[in-house]
Amino acid sequence: MGLLLLASTGCGGNSAQPPLPQRATELHCQPLKDHVPVQTLEETGCFQDIETITPGPDLIPYGVRSPLWTDGADKQRWVVLPPTETLQLTHNEIQFPRGTTLVKLFSLTGVQDNALNPSHLERLPMEMRFLVKTETQWEAFTYRFSPDGSTAQLLDASADQEITAHGTTLSYHFPNKSSCETCHRNDKPVLGFEIEQLNFEYDYGPSRENQLTALEDIQALVADPPHKTNELPSLVLPTDTKQPLEDRARSWMHANCSHCHRPGGWAALSQMDLRNSVPLADTGTCDVPMEFAGFSSLFRITPGDPEQSGLLVRVNEMFPYRMPPIGVSITDPNGSALLRAWIEDLQTCPSP
Ligand code: HEC
Ligand code: HEC
Repeated sequence: MGLLLLASTGCGGNSAQPPLPQRATELHCQPLKDHVPVQTLEETGCFQDIETITPGPDLIPYGVRSPLWTDGADKQRWVVLPPTETLQLTHNEIQFPRGTTLVKLFSLTGVQDNALNPSHLERLPMEMRFLVKTETQWEAFTYRFSPDGSTAQLLDASADQEITAHGTTLSYHFPNKSSCETCHRNDKPVLGFEIEQLNFEYDYGPSRENQLTALEDIQALVADPPHKTNELPSLVLPTDTKQPLEDRARSWMHANCSHCHRPGGWAALSQMDLRNSVPLADTGTCDVPMEFAGFSSLFRITPGDPEQSGLLVRVNEMFPYRMPPIGVSITDPNGSALLRAWIEDLQTCPSP
């Protein structure tokens, strides 16, 4: 109780509880032993309890403003730093110290099938993904949960599982280690833990706070030079109808397309750059003819005409033409509708 009082007076007096507790002084979460991932999620030391997915004291929760759609899977995310290390914010980029660990849980709700969900869990955990920064590189690996959710085992080969959630059957894809690198590439290994995705007021449970500020408050993030969060880039929530249509569509594409469609990305040869920071005129989309896979009678975007816009057509296609080509077996209904509304609303292409 004493601790709590101290902390709350420290952040301005009347707020009940700070958004994040003080940082852990010991590192429990260590998924690599001698540079190799341990065999089970339990052995990582990252979670106090696997069955209830109770994170250990060194896991700091975070969220992204515009999430990647993966067939409606529910995601939870955490960052772990060695106790004396900090994230550095310089020139709109986050630098990660060695030992940084990023953790992402995928789970599905609405799975009624007894064989797939014998314990009738409300949220059926599927896998726990990790990115760990070593001296030389980032290691990517994932643990697949047992059907009853009590254990999770390191996955070494990719796998697909037919699963029915909320009455819809999807093909859940567990990527293998080397396919993580299709999206998490050397030039930008970390995809969602970035300024524009973090720069919003997150609900930490005890209270809400801008995530960059909350991380600074517990000395997990140090900004040099100091910044004002309202001067840093940010995405918008794609489903927030109070935001401009263009910002919503661009934020959705940033999260769902730009890890491949950017310079250096897996689909760099398409010469489309769908990052939110790039002006529309420079994205290589508007009034630009399609090149690949037999859609060459279309423009990538035809202002005012969604049906004649390859971007939307490829999002609504079936495998192998569907975009994104990996991790999606059911088209994101909100994303598709948003793209349609934005293209419909677009009057002309901006001149370069
Ligand atoms: C199809 C592209 C794609 C593949 C394949 C992929 N990821 Fe990701 N991953 C993303 C994107 C995009 C984000 C950020 C958005 C989010 O968190 O929702 C992300 C986020 C993460 C995060 C949170 C840290 C971060 O980068 O923001 C972890 C950890 C992670 N992925 C691990 C993995 C591992 C391990 C694999 C392979 C088993 C993998 N991913 C395969 C696209 C992919
Ligand atoms: C995992 C990587 C990946 C992601 C994510 C991805 N794409 Fe692609 N995309 C590709 C590759 C590779 C190609 C080139 C081969 C092809 O056309 O299938 C491509 C091609 C395209 C093309 C065809 C361009 C042309 O000129 O013919 C369009 C349009 C497209 N993507 C739109 C999107 C949109 C919109 C998103 C997000 C909703 C997206 N892509 C996400 C990998 C990706």
